[in-house]
Amino acid sequence: MSDGEMLYDDRHIATLEDIWGEGFLSPGGPEEVARVLDGLDLRGKRVLDIGCGSGAIAVLMAQDYGAAEVIGIDVEDDVCNAARRLAEKKGVADAVSIRKVEPGPLDFPDQHFDLVFSKDSIIHIPDKEKLCADVFRILRPGGWFAASDWLTSHDGEPSAEMKIYIEAEDLDFAMASPNRYQSALEAAGFESIALRNRNSWYREVANDELAYLQGEGRARLEREFGHEFHAGLVDTWEKMIVVLKTGEHCPHHLRGRRPG
Ligand SMILES: C[S@@+](CC[C@H](N)C(=O)[O-])C[C@H]1O[C@@H](n2cnc3c(N)ncnc32)[C@H](O)[C@@H]1O
Repeated sequence: MSDGEMLYDDRHIATLEDIWGEGFLSPGGPEEVARVLDGLDLRGKRVLDIGCGSGAIAVLMAQDYGAAEVIGIDVEDDVCNAARRLAEKKGVADAVSIRKVEPGPLDFPDQHFDLVFSKDSIIHIPDKEKLCADVFRILRPGGWFAASDWLTSHDGEPSAEMKIYIEAEDLDFAMASPNRYQSALEAAGFESIALRNRNSWYREVANDELAYLQGEGRARLEREFGHEFHAGLVDTWEKMIVVLKTGEHCPHHLRGRRPG
């Protein structure tokens, strides 16, 4: 992947939304979001969504969860534009604002947010320690970090199968282990830290996604994006399922509270 190339461009967005639903660039839809947010009260709160993608979750947090203000940040123009369009379409543009940012420190004042959320986006942020410290800094005391991310079961060299899968994705993945996230959250000062392995759930879901790509979704995806592109998708899913089965690819929910 060359510098400056968009990873999540309009074609990629259209493909992922075809699989995962309007505004979703990650699996599970509103139900999985509900599991990430389980037990947290967003009503009247100020929320940051790191890596908001094409916006369904930022919209959901304002519309269904009653957040007073949701700021979605992302590094790509196409997803930011798609998210803004969705917020307009859903009538929540007054509560949801989308900002294109540069990768790096979170450009917000200390203790600014009640909740920092992220779904399957911090995989793209290599320095988990700096990220956790920065999230802690911008949370008010008593505020929560609630995220989902794609993890790998161990630190160090990935297996041969994992390398093959990561290469197929071609999305600048920086996967970390549960141990590394646990340590990074502890070092940042979080309490009530919880990590929940979602491997068994996503293993099932990914099989359904592959069946969709090979069945019902095939004709439309081939027509819209071409045979080669569709074959590439199927190939990526097959390689992903290998490392989901071994457990090395292990999406997790992550949570921690800034003491208050
Ligand atoms: C798999 S998508 C998930 C999007 C959304 N959270 C969802 O679940 O639908 C990952 C997103 O992370 C964004 N991203 C990549 N690097 C980032 C960074 N350093 N900061 C914020 N977002 C980033 C990508 O542009 C992409 O929109």
